[in-house]
Amino acid sequence: MKIWDLPTRLFHWLLVILVGISWWSTETGHMDWHYRSGISVLILVVFRLLWGFIGGSTARFGQFLRSPVTVIAYLRRPDASGHMPGHNPLGGYSVVTMLLVLVIQVVTGVFAVDVDGIESGPLSYMLSFDQGRIAAKVHHLSFTALQVLVVLHLLAIVYYGIRGRRLIVPMVTGRDQQLSASTDALVNAGPVRFVTAIVIAFALGWWVSAGAPL
Ligand code: HEM
Ligand code: HEM
Repeated sequence: MKIWDLPTRLFHWLLVILVGISWWSTETGHMDWHYRSGISVLILVVFRLLWGFIGGSTARFGQFLRSPVTVIAYLRRPDASGHMPGHNPLGGYSVVTMLLVLVIQVVTGVFAVDVDGIESGPLSYMLSFDQGRIAAKVHHLSFTALQVLVVLHLLAIVYYGIRGRRLIVPMVTGRDQQLSASTDALVNAGPVRFVTAIVIAFALGWWVSAGAPL
């Protein structure tokens, strides 16, 4: 059965590649690539946030952000809730946490300045040097937080795999063969919604990279 729409899957795998490039580029001093990949991550994250409101049913925050009571009930008896399409009650919060850290990562990146003031994000001119340095420090810290979250993310996927729940194939193909046909299927969002989210995300990315002209 279909559980992830194409935009959500594309978002995920592009994010993996671009976060990888963002990391590699700082390690190797390719800051021109860092700005390109960083702004691309910004576009992806803006798209995903919009998609969380107007996207396919399993991508929506309203569908996978459940009450704390539901999360506790899930933790007590993970199998009782059955296999439902989309993120489980705990996974939903891990997704939002990762997105939040990515927001901090890109926002601090566009304001960051390096020690000698040479490398700087496109909006750093709005801040003093010291403020830009604080942004750079938070940028560094949030990357550490992101690395921790990604490790936990991968461990969770391995854990579910050991328990017989395969998650990676559905994130690639969109289909989950392990779900019974009686479960509610994915409800896709139409192309107009997709184009709207894409246009807004690209416009914002362009505007920020151009130094936010008014
Ligand atoms: C997922 C997105 C991003 C990741 C994973 C990321 C990661 C990093 C890392 C690991 C560093 C080195 C920090 C250090 O060692 O102190 C760095 C530095 C930097 N990044 Fe990003 N970054 C991202 C997005 C951005 C964006 C969107 C911009 C701006 C367009 C940006 C601008 C900068 C600047 C100017 C520095 C140099 C700061 C310094 O040397 O103190 N980054 N980034
Ligand atoms: C930079 C590294 C990564 C980041 C930042 C990341 C982030 C995310 C995010 C935000 C989601 C939620 C998707 C959505 O609803 O839009 C997600 C889901 C998922 N990711 Fe990753 N991911 C990373 C690496 C990986 C890797 C390397 C794999 C596989 C080997 C993977 C497998 C999955 C799977 C299977 C799901 C769906 C989980 C579920 O069924 O609830 N991720 N990831």
